[in-house]
Amino acid sequence: MQPKPGCVNAALCGMESYADVVALLGAARRGLGPMLSAFEVMWDDYWHEVTETVGVRAPLAGRHALYVLIEAQGLSEAVDGPRFQSWIESQFEAGLIGDAAVSQSMGDVAAFWAMRDACSEFGSRLGPHVAFDVGLPVARMDDFAKACKARVAERVPNAFSVYYGHIGDGNLHLVALSRGASGQPMGLISAAVYETVRDFDGTISAEHGIGLLKKSYLGHTRSPQELALMRRLKAAMDPQGILNPGKVFDMEDKA
Ligand code: LAC
Ligand code: ZN
Repeated sequence: MQPKPGCVNAALCGMESYADVVALLGAARRGLGPMLSAFEVMWDDYWHEVTETVGVRAPLAGRHALYVLIEAQGLSEAVDGPRFQSWIESQFEAGLIGDAAVSQSMGDVAAFWAMRDACSEFGSRLGPHVAFDVGLPVARMDDFAKACKARVAERVPNAFSVYYGHIGDGNLHLVALSRGASGQPMGLISAAVYETVRDFDGTISAEHGIGLLKKSYLGHTRSPQELALMRRLKAAMDPQGILNPGKVFDMEDKA
């Protein structure tokens, strides 16, 4: 079992550009080292939806292009609290952060996370939607988000899409839907998103897996050689096809 961290500090930062976000991620890795426990990025469209539709009170005033939730877990508040505070201040001085709220209590940390966790309310607030979990080169995530939003808007009637994710591990989440549609055009939405993922050399799943929903899109970002290798590995480990039958690679599927 993992013991609870000795202390937790967090900041919610308003950022003016994605270049600043990437620079801040590098600075957090250097300056906070192993204490860095979260680096969650929320694009402005996501932030707007969480405050307006889900109704979470924003812990940071003003509008920014992007928002970053940085969390650091340390051993002792007496040592690590001031260390976190002074690291944040140095990022201000370096001009990376436009505005920030820094936690003074665990209640503040929870209020910052409420912005990020609000995505779990999208199902009840936005209605049926399609949720994605794509992998992308970190440096290209903002360009991807813009291109994807534009393509979804072009292909899907009354399109809506918002972007967020724990970008430090190459992961971007997005939620898309056709507002007011009686049934969501899953195929249209998925094709628009996964074609953009392919254009940006990404992967169709970063953490949630392929399953059945993404199975038909695997070829968008994996070559026939890679797919053949995956099939060989599956066959080597499961020669009788009894593990998760009928899913990503089935005995019946032929290369
Ligand atoms: C998240 C989970 C759902 O990052 O992957 O919100
Ligand atoms: Zn995730």
